[in-house]
Amino acid sequence: MVCVEIVLAGYGEVVVVHVSDLHVECENYSRELEERLIGYLGELRPDIIVVTGDLTDNGYVHEFRAAIRLISRFKARRVLAVPGNHDSRNMGYIVFERVFGTRFPFFCYKGVCIQGVDSSEPDVDDGHIGRLAYDLVAERLRGRGRIRMVALHHHLIPVPGTGRERNIPVDAGDFLRVLVELGVGVVLSGHKHVPWIWSLNGMLILHAGTATTYRLKAGIPPSINTLYVRGCEVEVRRLNLQTMREEVVYQGTPNPTTLDKGYDLANINYDFKLDSTGHS
Ligand SMILES: [Fe+2]
Ligand SMILES: [Fe+2]
Repeated sequence: MVCVEIVLAGYGEVVVVHVSDLHVECENYSRELEERLIGYLGELRPDIIVVTGDLTDNGYVHEFRAAIRLISRFKARRVLAVPGNHDSRNMGYIVFERVFGTRFPFFCYKGVCIQGVDSSEPDVDDGHIGRLAYDLVAERLRGRGRIRMVALHHHLIPVPGTGRERNIPVDAGDFLRVLVELGVGVVLSGHKHVPWIWSLNGMLILHAGTATTYRLKAGIPPSINTLYVRGCEVEVRRLNLQTMREEVVYQGTPNPTTLDKGYDLANINYDFKLDSTGHS
């Protein structure tokens, strides 16, 4: 159980806006969508804004300059950003780290703890998290807060209608297991430009569409997600940035549960071992 009643005292509502795939300066970028987004954020003044990657289109320095100009207009207590595959192109991952300070940002506010993870690889569209990052996520999130979230660019399970299973992190299964065992209640992702929600073992997996572009699949409108965390409960509203209509797409209490413990590897005996002299 992620959310323990005893930690609720004194914690009010926390509002998290989940924005993704800005692709500044791409040919389908829309200033109109940008202004609508800025207007919404200015009015809402959320506690946290999470940007799940593809801030730029090709990771070029001038694109990062434009992305920073845009993100500087986001009004929130804290903005957390992770790189997407487009940001890591052309050595952009280096620029990203320089301007944001880290590719693995972490922030806790009123018991809502969010860990960002870089799932990108330079000049490759496929996702990869890596075992060292599992340790980092575990160290930062184990036993923390009333609700834990992880934000990464790539989708950990397929998003319907988006081209079968391309670009899922090669170690998605391992990472999902880590997240469920840590009691991570919400996973925020982007990449496919199609909003979708899965609930896996009681863990909410939330995909955002593109916020500021018309790189749309089948005309699915540009959108963002807003999460209202009240006590142990999460309400997710999806804002259509074309019509500025908002709808509640999820309301509930994430309750990540490990259904299968897997093999007890510690009890499998191997009859071979390298001794201290280096001989087997
Ligand atoms: Fe994208
Ligand atoms: Fe992407």
